[in-house]
Amino acid sequence: MESGDKRITLQLMMAVGTAVIGSLQFGYNTGVINAPQKIIESFYNETWFDRYSTSIPETYLTTLWSISVAVFSIGGIFGSFSVGLFVNRFGRKNSMLMVNVLAFVAAALMGFSKMAASWEMLITGRFVVGLFSGLCTGFVPMYVGEISPTSLRGALGTLHQLGIVIGILLAQVFGLEALMGNMTMWPFLLGFTFIPAVVQCALLPLCPESPRYLLINLNQETRAKSVLKKLRGTTDVNADLQEMKDESRQMLREKKVTILELFLSPLYRQPIFIAIMLQLSQQLSGINAVFYYSTGIFERTGVAQPIYATIGTGVVNTAFTVVSLFVVERAGRRPLHLIGLMGMAISAVLMTIAMALIEKLKWMSYVSIVAIFSFVAFFEIGPGPIPWFIVAELFSQGPRPSAIAVAGFSNWTANFIVGMCFQYVEQLCGPYVFIIFTFLLLGFFIFTYFKVPETKGRTFDEITAGFRQNALGTEKYCPEELSSLGSDSQL
Ligand code: GLC
Repeated sequence: MESGDKRITLQLMMAVGTAVIGSLQFGYNTGVINAPQKIIESFYNETWFDRYSTSIPETYLTTLWSISVAVFSIGGIFGSFSVGLFVNRFGRKNSMLMVNVLAFVAAALMGFSKMAASWEMLITGRFVVGLFSGLCTGFVPMYVGEISPTSLRGALGTLHQLGIVIGILLAQVFGLEALMGNMTMWPFLLGFTFIPAVVQCALLPLCPESPRYLLINLNQETRAKSVLKKLRGTTDVNADLQEMKDESRQMLREKKVTILELFLSPLYRQPIFIAIMLQLSQQLSGINAVFYYSTGIFERTGVAQPIYATIGTGVVNTAFTVVSLFVVERAGRRPLHLIGLMGMAISAVLMTIAMALIEKLKWMSYVSIVAIFSFVAFFEIGPGPIPWFIVAELFSQGPRPSAIAVAGFSNWTANFIVGMCFQYVEQLCGPYVFIIFTFLLLGFFIFTYFKVPETKGRTFDEITAGFRQNALGTEKYCPEELSSLGSDSQL
């Protein structure tokens, strides 16, 4: 059943726009630490000197820096795993509102670390902002998925990723030496995260609570109905309400599902496996090897202005997320994810060729730029946005919070592993490092082709019914779901 309601109301845009400020925060803090590396390292060095009257040993400096970068993902791992503690107790909207405290604390810790001559404050701040970002990567897709009409769920879900990529781009631009990536301004660059937090705190009280949460979790039908009317811009919300009631009835049988039950129950085993694999396909594609280390990669392939090439990746990244936004409801999730994975695999091969031949052929530096740009472009066509919002689609209200926690945990852990290991693996493999990602990408392509169902245009209830039938062995997915590249036929 496709509701066919494609109306984008002001209320809906306002709610989605406010929520994705959280995504912007995640992106900003992902990108912010790269450009000012040298400057912050010299702050560490000076502080060390003031404390111990000697320069910091090189190995200590490397370790301190690696911790400053990676502690963000550790915070993210904890944050994403804790999503379930909040969303059912406080509601979706209030959860988003209250965790902004973390953004303020983090901004203060990082922003005043220079004044206090304390790298401990900076590292703690990075952990806290990671915690906050991890929570956002659960809250935002959940809230957006729950308030969107079925026919716009993918497009609006992609706005989470758009928020992330705009955040990364802003961080790259603000990090330029002429702006804030310099000795005096870097504390502002890091502390800047408090501004989106202020804006979100001001706007969230004007946004509605998720009607699904009101109806299904709190059993408040009248409130749910009035929120729906505003979100949909019509008084006729019976179809939406009926769909939620169906889901609610199903949930009475399911109750709240714990993380352990997700893995034990045959009902959820398949969708949770798919959700985890999709998160892994996003992170183990190697995308953050580019976003954390692109300047170094460009330098090694002889690009003249590596910092501008890095900003170029941010621009391509944003442009192609917009492309995905406009095609995801037409093309569907499966084909975009498949095209994205294959395109990335081919780009990774191209990148390897460029890196291997750079000594002999100087013009290979241009090929490396093209390869990295196309790697990023294909990422944003599918593997960037889709894993984030599809988890909310694969589960009904009962298991959704636990599923989102598990998915987020897998994503952040894989992110941490790539961030930590890439440089070491690169030292081992030299120019052939991206071949590893090629194999992984091809593996995820095969998995997606055989296992991931199309969710476009189907209600949450219809999607979970597909898995239920599968688990009970009474019926398979519609056969065309597995064989076609997501044609419209099964809808
Ligand atoms: C996705 C990933 C994130 C990555 C970003 C790049 O949101 O989750 O780790 O940095 O895309 O655009």
